[in-house]
Amino acid sequence: MSVEKAFSRSSRNYESRGFIQNQVAKNLVGRVKERPKHILDLGCGSGFIYKNIDWEFDKFIGVDFSKEMLKLHPKFKTELIFENFDALKFPKSDTLISSSSLQWSSNLKELLEKISELEIPTYLSLFTSKTFSEVHKYFQTSSPIYSLNEILSFANGFQYEVENFEIEFSNSREVLKYIKESGVSGGGLSISPNQIRNFISEDVIQNITLEIVYLWRD
Ligand SMILES: C[S@@+](CC[C@H](N)C(=O)[O-])C[C@H]1O[C@@H](n2cnc3c(N)ncnc32)[C@H](O)[C@@H]1O
Repeated sequence: MSVEKAFSRSSRNYESRGFIQNQVAKNLVGRVKERPKHILDLGCGSGFIYKNIDWEFDKFIGVDFSKEMLKLHPKFKTELIFENFDALKFPKSDTLISSSSLQWSSNLKELLEKISELEIPTYLSLFTSKTFSEVHKYFQTSSPIYSLNEILSFANGFQYEVENFEIEFSNSREVLKYIKESGVSGGGLSISPNQIRNFISEDVIQNITLEIVYLWRD
């Protein structure tokens, strides 16, 4: 399943299952020093960045390639652009903020270079490949997203901080449900129904890790 379809599919549950993303967006917005009036958000989703901004702004530009996610985004003082951020001609803004989205870039190195050329304060958070590592280890699959080392090697001139979240579930079925509905996996895991049945009946994985790296340039 494409990442775009996966996000449109998980949009129904995104707000209720997205508590980590909301916390990450809140942490990221908390790092913004000036109170920018024109904000650009890449991969804006249902609006966790927008909803965590606690100052007056003139314009918020949100970019996302999932129409279903854009439908959920607040509209007041907002321009929403239905577009792939990898192919975007960046609109003018004071500050760029992007949370939990850029790990899906098809060319993160190039995207971070383009972002740096804007020369505006930039605040990013990205999931790393350590996310769901327990489950990847169980299924012997590899994460579809960039590792921390890869991200840092592309992030010239950015400061960074890493945060790990551990979530505990009552059983493995709940783990899979979370992965499917949280919107973090971008399409879930490529595993057969048989493997899923075994995973649920063995019930050995009940805790999962999510790793986030914050990158910023004031
Ligand atoms: C995990 S959600 C994060 C949404 C929001 N920023 C938040 O903090 O909750 C990732 C979002 O990025 C969008 N996305 C992923 N890859 C994209 C791309 N290449 N271009 C535009 N949007 C993309 C998805 O559609 C989804 O809405």
